[in-house]
Amino acid sequence: MEKTLIVANWKENFTAAEAERWVGGLNEELRIKNKGGVEIVVCPPFVLTSILHSLLLIPNSPFRLGAQDVSKFEGGQYTGEVSAKMLKDFVSYVIVGHSERRKYFGETNEDVGLKIEQCLKHDLAPIVCVSNLEQASASQCVNESNKIIFVYEPVEAISTGGEFHPDDPEHAQVMAKEIKAVAGQDIRVLYGGSVTSENVKSFVSQPDINGVLVGQASLDAGEFTKICDEIC
Ligand code: PGA
Repeated sequence: MEKTLIVANWKENFTAAEAERWVGGLNEELRIKNKGGVEIVVCPPFVLTSILHSLLLIPNSPFRLGAQDVSKFEGGQYTGEVSAKMLKDFVSYVIVGHSERRKYFGETNEDVGLKIEQCLKHDLAPIVCVSNLEQASASQCVNESNKIIFVYEPVEAISTGGEFHPDDPEHAQVMAKEIKAVAGQDIRVLYGGSVTSENVKSFVSQPDINGVLVGQASLDAGEFTKICDEIC
């Protein structure tokens, strides 16, 4: 049985000092107690990865690290890019194809496919964000489908300016089921968009939703601890 995933997407937030404060604000028990069926993945901006690696990845911890993006290239003359091979030393997961990358950085399904390939080649688990079935079928890799994790994240459900407007959990369940029908029954599908401690249970209690991707609500260590406590 694959673990339930709680993924924190910090987006473009936090300095090193703020990240340290966030770790200090987590419930101590959450940091050190192995949760068995749950894995908590924190995806900070690249520059904070190394700091979090030493602060969070302590023995028995339920925490893992992820990146928010990866280069579609193996390496070389691509100023500003960070390759899967570089990330491999620090993280186990990579968010790929987030709607903000598609919208603000022009990422296409083809780019997303190349990034998934880079992740799989370097043994990183891609967490692929899709807002519809067309994006899900464009991203499926038949041979290694059970390594890919999908996130159903409708664009209109992503929180804006501190306002939360989540999808209806039953609708998210229908979409998660359809994504599995397209990409394989063995893959995990998460839900993302305005997840909070108040609504997280209504999503993870759906039969085809195997975890959540949390943006805004993950930035508050107390609220994030509550979200984890709801599931663990
Ligand atoms: P949100 O963001 O939880 O703030 O809606 C989720 C995401 O975009 O990853």
